[in-house]
Amino acid sequence: MHDPIDIFDPALYAAVRRPVDEAETLPPWCYTSEAFWRREVETIFTRGWYTVGRAERIPNPGDYFAFEVVGIPLIIVHGLDGRLRALSNSCRHRGAKIVEGDGNTRSFRCPYHSWLYDTAGCLRGAGGMEHSKNFSPDGYGLLDIRLESWGGFMFVNLDRNAMDLRTWLGDLDTRVSSYGMDKLKGKRSTVVTLNCNWKVYMENAMEEYHLPTVHRASINKLEMTHREEGGRGQYCVIVEEHEGTRAVLPGEKGFPFIRTLEGAAARGTNYVQIYPNLNFAATKDCVIWLEIHPLAVDRTRLVLSVMFPEETVARPDFDEVVERYYRRLDKSAPEDFAIAEVQQKGLASPLARAGRLSTEEPLVHHIANWVLDRVLAPSSKPARAVA
Ligand code: FES
Ligand SMILES: [Fe+2]
Repeated sequence: MHDPIDIFDPALYAAVRRPVDEAETLPPWCYTSEAFWRREVETIFTRGWYTVGRAERIPNPGDYFAFEVVGIPLIIVHGLDGRLRALSNSCRHRGAKIVEGDGNTRSFRCPYHSWLYDTAGCLRGAGGMEHSKNFSPDGYGLLDIRLESWGGFMFVNLDRNAMDLRTWLGDLDTRVSSYGMDKLKGKRSTVVTLNCNWKVYMENAMEEYHLPTVHRASINKLEMTHREEGGRGQYCVIVEEHEGTRAVLPGEKGFPFIRTLEGAAARGTNYVQIYPNLNFAATKDCVIWLEIHPLAVDRTRLVLSVMFPEETVARPDFDEVVERYYRRLDKSAPEDFAIAEVQQKGLASPLARAGRLSTEEPLVHHIANWVLDRVLAPSSKPARAVA
């Protein structure tokens, strides 16, 4: 479809800015336009705290994996000095990408001319540079990108001037600290790439209006006694109070509840979207989490998993009972995968138009407005990874 003349004119979004009971959805081009996507890359993904997954993926010094944040190649490494780092995966000689995949190493050797870097990114070997004048390896280390951790998740930020991660998360700890998230363990992840915009999947994860239709055969009947939405920080949350866990299919029995839970966490489930790409449902016995990795305007890679306290994982019946959790995810998640691609197809039609939100979708409204606050900001200059 053709973009309107200036898709960054705030007047085009006046109806999205209204209260939810009067609001329209984001216009379809927000999910299909290359220009809108590029602006999201500049103002959201390279400026916000972007999760690159669980720290338990690299538990030992020397462990690393290559990872791309909106196409920008990074190395996430547990340094031999014990520190977790994100390094630019681009050689300081002539720019080659240095590593692929994952593993354990004492150093990174560039596949082109063998420049050698240690796990802190310092240049340790540059054979053939002996006769180059005024060359000091000190000035040619791999660029060190900001990496901070919370709840066992690693987050990177390509903007040197961004607020720190704790400030980004606002009051989130007051809601979820009793889960002991940094110690939870997962054993299985599902990775899938979908033909949809990243917001399509995120919005789906934060509304229950679709449950009676999309999940009529799986998790439709969610009884609850209380529900509210909120969040002060770069996140939004639905808190629901209910009996039992939300992580197994109706009628199935799961593990004992997490013993440390307090307050609302002990009475139900916190559905949280940390902007821009970490989503989790923290319920009474486990935390289901979802990384949403935008690859292109209409392609998104998801990593979906569930994690439990160590004492649950250590139970003799863990392998048997955890199958009930996997069964629930394997039934409900593909229903969301399918509807996300169906929605993207329709959004890409030149006949698609902005729609109206239900009052059952307050966080779809929150997401739309959070995105607009960044994409339409007058100071949307590209972020700088290095000062
Ligand atoms: S590009 Fe890496 S050593 Fe030449
Ligand atoms: Fe769903």
